[in-house]
Amino acid sequence: MKIGGISTRSVWREPDGWSVGILDQTLLPWRIARLRLRNDADAAHAIASMQTRGAPLIGAVAAYGLALALRADSSDDNLHRAYARLLAARPTAINLKWALDEISAAVRHLPPPQRAEAAYRRADAICDEDVAINTAIGQHGKRLIEAVAARKRADEPVNILTHCNAGWLATVDLGTATAPIYLAHDAGIAVHVFVDETRPRNQGASLTAFEFGQHGVPHTVIADNAGGHLMQHGRIDMVIVGSDRTTGRGDVCNKIGTYLKALAAFDNGVPFYVGLPSPTIDFLSDDGVADILIEERSGAEVSAVTGRTETGGVGTVTVVPDGTAVENPAFDVTPARLVTGLITERGVLASSREALEAAFPDHPSRRRPPEAAA
Ligand code: MRU
Repeated sequence: MKIGGISTRSVWREPDGWSVGILDQTLLPWRIARLRLRNDADAAHAIASMQTRGAPLIGAVAAYGLALALRADSSDDNLHRAYARLLAARPTAINLKWALDEISAAVRHLPPPQRAEAAYRRADAICDEDVAINTAIGQHGKRLIEAVAARKRADEPVNILTHCNAGWLATVDLGTATAPIYLAHDAGIAVHVFVDETRPRNQGASLTAFEFGQHGVPHTVIADNAGGHLMQHGRIDMVIVGSDRTTGRGDVCNKIGTYLKALAAFDNGVPFYVGLPSPTIDFLSDDGVADILIEERSGAEVSAVTGRTETGGVGTVTVVPDGTAVENPAFDVTPARLVTGLITERGVLASSREALEAAFPDHPSRRRPPEAAA
């Protein structure tokens, strides 16, 4: 996708061939700053601090983090140490573990001198696969948007609600939830997106709105609490969100607040879709509420808000009384029964174990033991 008209991925290898570049997403949309990661500590810090974020992207950055670690020291000990450090950076999105397992599997049977190069090769491939997967998700999801457009008056856009940022900034490129939207828009289908602001960190207001603005997709940012009201008034044709982990039975873990949108959509008969790349599926989890560890982040994200100040700087203001208790669960789980369809690279699936198992008989979480790095 483009920033200022220039094609940009959200992670890349720097011209030196070994260090890794990312956009500092904590500064978007106010500043476009690029960061250079030189070792696995840099990669783990960027993931934990959310300078880089979104389930597929943290997988890709962690993959490069392991390559950086092996470049410095390709021993078994260092592989295990860096794997553990990167895995601990964020607990909920399964893509992080998936990508670390992919790199481990690609290198651990090789003699140490060959490991770093093999790790970089697999990390590069993970990035290219991510783009191919998202393109396929976009093609399948675009057909859903086309079907809605066909039922509407020619001058009416398809109104889509999305939550958080499951766009190209959350992946290597194109996004998951946004891929159908970008492809539909580029094909000349009139779309309009209601973007949930997504408190506490405002990924919708700052990142998704930034992306759509750069690409020319018509959109409107709404307060998180407005979605149900808009659905009651027939102003939302469909919801498309992303996922940080989808269990074997189709429960969807995504950014906090997704569940409430699914409830409102269900109550109003609005189709609720999830853009779901296969590395986000975890067949080792079943009941999402019981089985998925939900990241608890700093209360400061709730008690304060960051934005551009009147003088053009970036500033943070506190919005709760001093000493107020705050709690900040970062994700929630939408039960499979509230999900209309999972838009995967292999088609739009029912949110059920049968459908997921039939579409992904070869999925790594069905064959690889959880402690793959050991
Ligand atoms: O905490 P974040 O910003 O990493 O959360 C991101 C989300 O919840 C996205 O919706 C999810 O990762 C899907 S990204 C394609």
